[in-house]
Amino acid sequence: MSKASAPGKIILFGEHAVVYARPAIAVPVFQVRAEVELERLEIERLEIDAADLDKRYTLQDALPDDPIATIIRLTCARLNVEPNGLRVRVRSTIPIGGGLGSGAAVSVAIARAFAQHFSVTLSAGEASALAFEVEKLHHGTPSGIDNTVIAFEQPVYFVRDQPIESFRVARPFTIAIADTGIAAPTKIAVGDVRRAWQAERARYESLFDQIGSIAQKARAAIERGNVESLGALMNANQALLRALGVSSPEIETLVDAALRAGASGVKLCGAGRGGNVIALVDEVTQDKVARAWRDAGARNVIITQVN
Ligand code: MEV
Repeated sequence: MSKASAPGKIILFGEHAVVYARPAIAVPVFQVRAEVELERLEIERLEIDAADLDKRYTLQDALPDDPIATIIRLTCARLNVEPNGLRVRVRSTIPIGGGLGSGAAVSVAIARAFAQHFSVTLSAGEASALAFEVEKLHHGTPSGIDNTVIAFEQPVYFVRDQPIESFRVARPFTIAIADTGIAAPTKIAVGDVRRAWQAERARYESLFDQIGSIAQKARAAIERGNVESLGALMNANQALLRALGVSSPEIETLVDAALRAGASGVKLCGAGRGGNVIALVDEVTQDKVARAWRDAGARNVIITQVN
């Protein structure tokens, strides 16, 4: 049996604007993972068992745009092997449509599991490129940030179509993550922002510029260990995401609860309209924020270190 996995991710700064070639910062989240097992079968078929999606089917019967079937076909073509005689079990603790990279993590974990099974070395860049093909199917115009941070498993400063840059985290900091419990497809929020940008280009270009400039400042602050300034940058980023039209009442409830409980910054994470919010916390505020979020109806709370 071959086994592989891939982590979730959060975008600390710059979602949406990153689709329009502004910089963004993302980090992996190792507390949630997509896991894939490959098991040999004595039949000329490839079975897919995706219990989280409540789906069991064969590759041969999959719909043409099925993301799991697509990454399997792309990976097998890259590895030059036949997709037959296997059961592919996919499990994930990353909430679907939650802004934590569930789709990209499943793709990367599948690509890694096949590479391992057929004893082929697959670089992080290759796993990322395969997953990006599936992201295009899901979202239409993805920036590529999700597949990149998940395949490389390190903090990234990402600018679309530019070489990947990592950066030094001079002083570790703590991020709390809360799930609104509302699954929100990335494709819809990204499509709505595109239509709004087409209708009001100057206004949206200015919002994207302001978000990109926050991501640049945040990188400099993280590299200098100036953690104190990150909270205000997160709040400013959230105000701009609100102006883009991708916040929601559920997100705003968790934003208010975190600020009242003492978080120094809080914003939505990913495409918005639901999904997860992230807050900058410390040893004193992390429990208070987690409690306030649970009281405000958050489905799940994760505490993660960025280092
Ligand atoms: C989704 O995690 C982040 C977005 O910026 C879309 C993308 O970058 O492809 C909303």
